[in-house]
Amino acid sequence: MIASERPSYAIASIPGDGIGAETVAAARRVLDVVSRESGFSLEWQEYPWGCEHYLTTGAMMDSNGIELLAKSDAILLGAVGRPDVPDHISLWGLLIPIRRSFDQYVSLRPARLLAGVESPLAPSRAAIDVVTVRENTEGEYSEIGGRIFRGQPHEQAVQEAVFTRVGIERIARYAFELARTRSGRVASATKSNGIVHTMPFWDEVVAEVAMQYPDVELTRYHVDALAALLVLDPGRFDVILGSNLFGDILSDLTAALAGSIGIAPCGNIDPTRRHPSMFEPIHGSAPDIVGQGIANPLGQIWSAAMMLEHLGEAAAAKALERSIESVLAAGIKTPDLGGECGTKAVTDAVIAAFLAEGVAR
Ligand code: IPM
Ligand code: MG
Repeated sequence: MIASERPSYAIASIPGDGIGAETVAAARRVLDVVSRESGFSLEWQEYPWGCEHYLTTGAMMDSNGIELLAKSDAILLGAVGRPDVPDHISLWGLLIPIRRSFDQYVSLRPARLLAGVESPLAPSRAAIDVVTVRENTEGEYSEIGGRIFRGQPHEQAVQEAVFTRVGIERIARYAFELARTRSGRVASATKSNGIVHTMPFWDEVVAEVAMQYPDVELTRYHVDALAALLVLDPGRFDVILGSNLFGDILSDLTAALAGSIGIAPCGNIDPTRRHPSMFEPIHGSAPDIVGQGIANPLGQIWSAAMMLEHLGEAAAAKALERSIESVLAAGIKTPDLGGECGTKAVTDAVIAAFLAEGVAR
């Protein structure tokens, strides 16, 4: 194949903070091999944005950051946050503006118990294979509200949740479409017994969308009961549909039940493809282990596999996922999973597994 026939994708990488630099470098090393072996190329553009950038420039990213990122086909993000920068500054200066500017309204979060990984649940209960479809642009994460009477005894804070028909419809539709490709079941997280305006609205719109998917079974659960049932009987769940906040919480729970938040991936997806989508591990910047060479790279690498899938390189994505699975099954693991290997050894093993496995084209 001559070079010009190879598809080429422009990828923006933002290592961000903490272990992000280590995990993104690991994922890039893997992707360089995957792309070479699979007949496409990746053109990387790296942006040094994050808390360090904030402390030196006063902004988490350049003022034309969104414009720069808009030129890419996809974005690979490491992690954001550092103890000496308040979270609401770091996250609302980088991660959340990207999700919103690019209308990445789906946060897609698979969690699967892989061979070689131990769940905190009893083995008889631990067969977990779920995908959380989290609404990613509205809901409880809203800028509407404020604080008054600061420092006084009657100080107040008000924060309004914003739910729109369009927002609920489109995320529900995504969940039902996804369920069609899996088990045909959607569990929708609600809390209409306590939150009396937005949640009944959520339930109504989800039910309306469900009418268009008679082949998919919709079950509504109050989110508290859903959390308990996830622990007691995770096998009953497949696609879990949740608002921004509920999906956030439930996807940490499902990741932990599947053995480690160090492995779990996330796609922030604009299904219309008008904007680039962004892929990131769900774990944080882990300041406590920065620079020790022991960060688990698999969450980042699995996120990179989701990115390849989104770009249309499904065979490479599947082969990469299988490589991750075979490395874990062989017991090549970082300390967060009870192993003794470092980031480099795990990354090398993924590359070796990928090369051994080959890509079915
Ligand atoms: C996530 C994170 C973020 C979120 C935080 C860091 C703002 O927890 O991606 O799940 O809540 O969206
Ligand atoms: Mg979260």
